Amino acid sequence: MKRTSGILTSLVFFASFASTQSQETVVQFGMTDSVVISKNIYGHFAEHLGHCIYGGIWVGERSTIPNTRGIRNDVVAALRKIRIPVVRWPGGCFADDYHWMEGIGPAASRPKLVNTTWGGVTEDNSFGTHEFMDFCEQTGAEPYICGNIRSGTVKEMSDWVQYLTSDGDNAMAKLRRSNGREKPWTVKFWAMGNETWGCGGIMPADFYASELGRYSTSLKNFEDSHLYKVASGGLPEDYNWTETIMKKWSTTDGWLQGYMSGYSLHFYAVTNWEKKGPATQFDEAGWFTTLAKTWEMDALISKHSAIMDKYDPKKRIGLVVDEWGTWYDVESGTNPSFLYQQNTMRDAVAAAINLNIFNNHADRVKMANIAQLVNVLQSLILTDGAKMVLTPTYYVFDLFKVHQNALRIPATLEAAEYAVGDKKIPAVSCSASVDEQRRVHVSLANADFSHTQKVALRFARFTPVNVSGKVLDSGRANDFNSFEHPDVVAPKAFSDFSISAGNLVVALPPASVVVLELEGKNE
Ligand code: AHR
Repeated sequence: MKRTSGILTSLVFFASFASTQSQETVVQFGMTDSVVISKNIYGHFAEHLGHCIYGGIWVGERSTIPNTRGIRNDVVAALRKIRIPVVRWPGGCFADDYHWMEGIGPAASRPKLVNTTWGGVTEDNSFGTHEFMDFCEQTGAEPYICGNIRSGTVKEMSDWVQYLTSDGDNAMAKLRRSNGREKPWTVKFWAMGNETWGCGGIMPADFYASELGRYSTSLKNFEDSHLYKVASGGLPEDYNWTETIMKKWSTTDGWLQGYMSGYSLHFYAVTNWEKKGPATQFDEAGWFTTLAKTWEMDALISKHSAIMDKYDPKKRIGLVVDEWGTWYDVESGTNPSFLYQQNTMRDAVAAAINLNIFNNHADRVKMANIAQLVNVLQSLILTDGAKMVLTPTYYVFDLFKVHQNALRIPATLEAAEYAVGDKKIPAVSCSASVDEQRRVHVSLANADFSHTQKVALRFARFTPVNVSGKVLDSGRANDFNSFEHPDVVAPKAFSDFSISAGNLVVALPPASVVVLELEGKNE
């Protein structure tokens, strides 16, 4: 099964046999091609949903849980460690019910609302704009704000931009100052709606394309800011939506440049929305189904990119995958609207496959935001009161952070096949980059549930000399970290590789993620 720089030629197809096999995978690396893997590919998403914000990030200043101005210290420390670059907020679907002015000023006077999208719980607005910006400053992440274009107005969103980013003598900047923040913040990333085909207003593509004009021309640059405005994409496979938006909002001579800087794609690895299946109790069939669905991200990006290339050959507009991840049935005994799920090695491998796909498409993919940061869907962190646990997905972000802002090394992957029943997928996923210190990093995932995969890495004009590695592999694909047993899945040193005739041969354990660091000689 051959794929070149992220173009998967055949993703999941019928096989004439019903068992796994283990031919060797060969990865041929080219020369670096001056494409930078944006650090924002390692971005996140935090919505007012279940216990993502309340309990997961925000506990309030009076909490006995250690916090700084109401924000959990343990969560901030964990996120700083993996260098989270950007966080999307306040939704998701919640964004289209959110009126930012209700979340500023003295907390006691903020109105209480019903979170009608996520469980009808009371939203007391105690975590608002200032608290989110404080969270970003504490973690070192850039803010990415999603505007309300269903129940909000153009003025409401443009006032939000002014409130956050203007240093002038105007009503919004004065209001901000009266709320205790003298200087404006820098907020570059703005989403002009969320899933406008669905919870964001059930808009037809051409209607939304027109709405975009009102929003994008009204969101102004204050001081020296250059807003990066992201348009909502359609359903994952709605290529007509992409065609409609791109046709209207990009021109080859670039005069519309800046009105739409990014275009969003959402994709969750779910095969059956009525019966998603449990997060931890799965067999090989359940493992395979999720990973086969995950691999579809590659084809989706290729197809949307091909349309974008037609209207934007210079790739000025970024593809922003601002919601992605696994989505299972909620854990038993939890609120079905809170989307709380555990996280196993299946999620770690799914995360690694997705991140490798984004790296390989880094010429077009400029940001990606896993859903979601804490306690919701494929989260990096789970909390229960004062307790916190890091998930296998967290450790993938920790291992892969070496790719942030590094130069992509194009990879041609001749992958072994992994078959279950009558379907097969590539057994191995891979991407590589070179950082400022000229260190090469290769990230690999073995999607095979029970077989070791042998991978030969071949380099162009580079001979590896010193190699070290880390592996995420716990022995059982269903393993997860719980509050009682928080360290079942954690990275370990990896040394199952050898150098022979300038090539590196690696043995990937079943259901594992490996990141290698290579120093060597350039020819
Ligand atoms: O991430 C959960 C929800 O999934 C988001 O609110 C919405 O945008 C998507 O459908």
